[in-house]
Amino acid sequence: MKICVIGLGYIGLPTSAMFAAHGHNVLGVDKNPAVIEALNQGSIIIEEANLDSFVKDVVEKGTLRGAMEPEEADAFIIAVPTPITEEKKADMRYVQAATEMILPYIRKGNLVILESTSPVGTVEQLMLPILEKSGLKMGEELFVGHSPERVIPGQILYELVHNSRIAGGINAISAQKIAELYRSFVEGEIYQCDARTAELCKLTENTFRDINIAFANELAQICENLDIDVWQVIQLCNKHPRVNIHQPGPGVGGHCIAVDPWFIIEKQPDTAKLIHQARLINDYMPEYVAAHIYELLEDVEQPQVTILGLTYKPDVDDIRESPVLKLAALLEKNGVAVKRHDPFVKAYQGDVAEACAGSHLVLLGVHHQQYKALPAKEMLAAMAGKLFYDTRNFADEPSLTEAGFEVYSLGR
Ligand SMILES: NC(=O)c1ccc[n+]([C@@H]2O[C@H](COP(=O)([O-])OP(=O)(O)OC[C@H]3O[C@@H](n4cnc5c(N)ncnc54)[C@H](O)[C@@H]3O)[C@@H](O)[C@H]2O)c1
Repeated sequence: MKICVIGLGYIGLPTSAMFAAHGHNVLGVDKNPAVIEALNQGSIIIEEANLDSFVKDVVEKGTLRGAMEPEEADAFIIAVPTPITEEKKADMRYVQAATEMILPYIRKGNLVILESTSPVGTVEQLMLPILEKSGLKMGEELFVGHSPERVIPGQILYELVHNSRIAGGINAISAQKIAELYRSFVEGEIYQCDARTAELCKLTENTFRDINIAFANELAQICENLDIDVWQVIQLCNKHPRVNIHQPGPGVGGHCIAVDPWFIIEKQPDTAKLIHQARLINDYMPEYVAAHIYELLEDVEQPQVTILGLTYKPDVDDIRESPVLKLAALLEKNGVAVKRHDPFVKAYQGDVAEACAGSHLVLLGVHHQQYKALPAKEMLAAMAGKLFYDTRNFADEPSLTEAGFEVYSLGR
């Protein structure tokens, strides 16, 4: 089939390359010229394990190419961003623009799939009215639906193939056609349902995780008040065969877990009480951690903190919605100078010990694997103080303590 994918980011690009590697002819469309220029030279501008060589291969074979404008195709896949506004409402402008963009190229028998995570009703209420302008009968001459993405950054190529998937159509035949298309490369189960159910499933999966993390974060606060180690509590509770509590931390970031629950709250503000409360608890965590830092630095006149790790999760380069960035901004707003280090973020790369120079406290914000073995002695030698605050209970505490650090941990 000829497949046209709109939006070549973390989702659209690997998906395009995957279809291109499995017998399809793929045109990737992006409004960012840098993405298209790179793609047509067989390279990429995002970080994802093994994606560069995978893309290079299909570009060289001629099954994937990029363009700024769509072309006629058998199937269209929309994978553009769906962020939230300042008011915590879904910003659907990209989905709308992408749907309008493909309209002139839609022909009888085509399939249109929304992959972007979207509020319930997006396919039926936002996309269908645009697609109906084609004059085609929806569900009979044009097949439409939603197939959300579940991949985890860092393992996208593996998970695209092995995860199970939901194919939600505006009618049964649309769902079936979506399932058949993804069957080209998906080895997991593909479950068919209606488009609205598919939309809510994706939001529900991330909301489940947000609520679980909020529970862990609340537990961390309770444990601090009761002088109990939350990490040990969670570890022991999770020995129960039917308990799986997530880990506390300085907040929840990324463009999925911290965002998607708002799409449910927006539609059901009076009913989604637990979901809303979980969002508020997680959003409050940077402030909660910051309050600890002020306490620890109470006696320092011009306090300086070095933050290790700024991405929203470990071992990726993605800083979107990162709670550690919010924490850094909060500290700065309250008179604490902040130095930043992150091996994955170009602006903050470099020597860890150098990044600690002159600081009174080192805060571990993200548990990147390489922070497991920190050059504690060199760090201390460069520092003006000896405090270490671990928001992830991750650093090698015995070796830090032995080197002379005074170590504190969230929830302990
Ligand atoms: N990244 C993830 O891990 C992940 C996981 C599951 C679901 N999702 C969802 O997938 C969707 C895409 O996310 P992403 O991480 O790939 O986003 P991204 O920001 O990495 O990429 C989106 C791309 O779309 C392009 N774009 C925006 N509007 C366009 C338009 N009108 N025409 C053409 N190109 C356009 C942008 O230039 C960008 O390159 C979002 O709804 C997101 O919530 C993402």
